[in-house]
Amino acid sequence: MNILVTGGCGFIGSNFVRYMLEEHPEHSVINLDKLTYAGNLENLADVADNSRYTFIKADICDRSAVDAVVKKFSVEAIINFAAESHVDRSIVGPSIFIETNIGGTNVLLDVAKESGIQRFVQISTDEVYGSLGPTGKFREDSQLHPNSPYSASKAAADLLALAYHHTFGLPVIITRCSNNYGPYQFPEKLIPLMIANALENKQLPIYGDGLNIRDWLYVRDHCTAIDLVLMKGKVGEVYNIGGENEWKNIDIVRLLLKIIEKSDSLITFVKDRLGHDRRYAIDASKIMNELGWKPIVTFEEGLAKTIKWYMHNKSWWRRIMNGEYQQYYQQMYGNR
Ligand code: NAD
Ligand code: DAU
Repeated sequence: MNILVTGGCGFIGSNFVRYMLEEHPEHSVINLDKLTYAGNLENLADVADNSRYTFIKADICDRSAVDAVVKKFSVEAIINFAAESHVDRSIVGPSIFIETNIGGTNVLLDVAKESGIQRFVQISTDEVYGSLGPTGKFREDSQLHPNSPYSASKAAADLLALAYHHTFGLPVIITRCSNNYGPYQFPEKLIPLMIANALENKQLPIYGDGLNIRDWLYVRDHCTAIDLVLMKGKVGEVYNIGGENEWKNIDIVRLLLKIIEKSDSLITFVKDRLGHDRRYAIDASKIMNELGWKPIVTFEEGLAKTIKWYMHNKSWWRRIMNGEYQQYYQQMYGNR
C-alpha cells in the first residue's frame, strides 16, 4: 500500500513512519509535512535514504499540493497526524489551530473523496471529551466537550471526518489517544521539557497545584494501535487508545527527578494554564476487544527508555532550543 502520512516530522508521526518502515516492508510511506516549528527533519534523518520513504514539504491546507502528491504517488491510504498540537499555544493564538486542524483536515478529506482513497485515519485526541472528575473514563460514546481552542479544533475535525463518511461514504476511521511520551517529543510538552530542564539544572514549572491527571502511553504502543486500526478497523468508527496509566503531574515530575538524580528543589509552582482540564482517563476496551490491541511497554520501562534517549541525544533538543534544527531542511534540500 502507498500510505500518505501527514505531519510525519513531528513527534508521533516520525515514530510512526519509522515503525511502518521497520515493520511493514510491503508498504511505502510518503511523508507530507509543512515543517512548522514542531516539524523536524532530523527526526527521520536515519530513514531519509530508504527507497520506500519520500519526504514532501507541503501544507495540508494547500489543496493543489495535496492533490498532486496523492496523484503522483497513487496514494491508497491517508493517516492525518498534521496538526497544531500544543494546548498552551492554542490559548495564546487560536487562529492557526482553526486553519490547520479544521481547514487542513477538510482539504485532506476532500482530496481523499475525489481520488477514491481506501482508508482515511484521522489521528484525534482524548481531549475532545473534555475533563473528568475523580472517577469515570472516556468511552467512544462519551459526549464531546472540548475546553481549549486546540481540543475544539480537533473535535470539529472529527465531526467533519465523520460527516464525510456519512454523506459521501469516505472510509474514515478516527482514533482518540491519551497523552503520549517517548523519543522525539518536542521539548515544550511536560515530560521532555522537565527532562531537558532537569538535565540543565533549570527550574521545572508546574502549573497550578500539580494535581491534574493525565493517562500516559508510550509512543510505540500508540503506533501499533494505529497500524491495527489502519489494517483492521471498521470504517465510520471511533477507537479510543490509552495506557490505563494515570499520573498526577507532580508525581511524574518527582519521579523524573529521582531517576535523573536531581533535587526536588528544581520544582517551581507557576500560574495555572487557563481552562486547565483536571483529569483525562481512557477506556480502551473497544480497540482491545475488537482489534486485539494492548499496550506492551510499562510506564517504568518507557520512562527509563525516554530519559535515556534524552540523555543520549542532548544535541537533538539543544538544537531545538537554540533554533538550529530549522536550518536542516535548507542544508538537505536547498531552496527546493
Ligand atoms: P507535533 O506537534 O509534534 O507534530 C505536528 C506535525 O505536524 C509537525 O511535524 C508539523 O510540522 C506538522 N504540521 C503542522 N501543521 C501542518 C500543516 N499545515 N501541513 C503539514 N504539516 C503540518 O504533534 P504530535 O504530538 O506528534 O501529534 C500528532 C497528532 O496526534 C496531532 O494530530 C495530535 O492532535 C494528535 N495527538 C497527540 C497526542 C500527544 O500526546 N502528543 C496524543 C493524542 C493525539
Ligand atoms: O491528551 C492528549 C493530548 O496530550 C494531546 O492531544 C496534545 O497534543 C498533547 O500536547 C497533550 O496535551 P496536554 O495539555 O495534556 O500535554 P502537556 O504536555 O502540554 O501537559 C501535560 C500536563 O502537564 C498538563 O496538565 C499541563 C501540565 N504542564 C505542562 C507543561 C508544558 C505543566 O504543569 N507544566 C508545563 O510546563
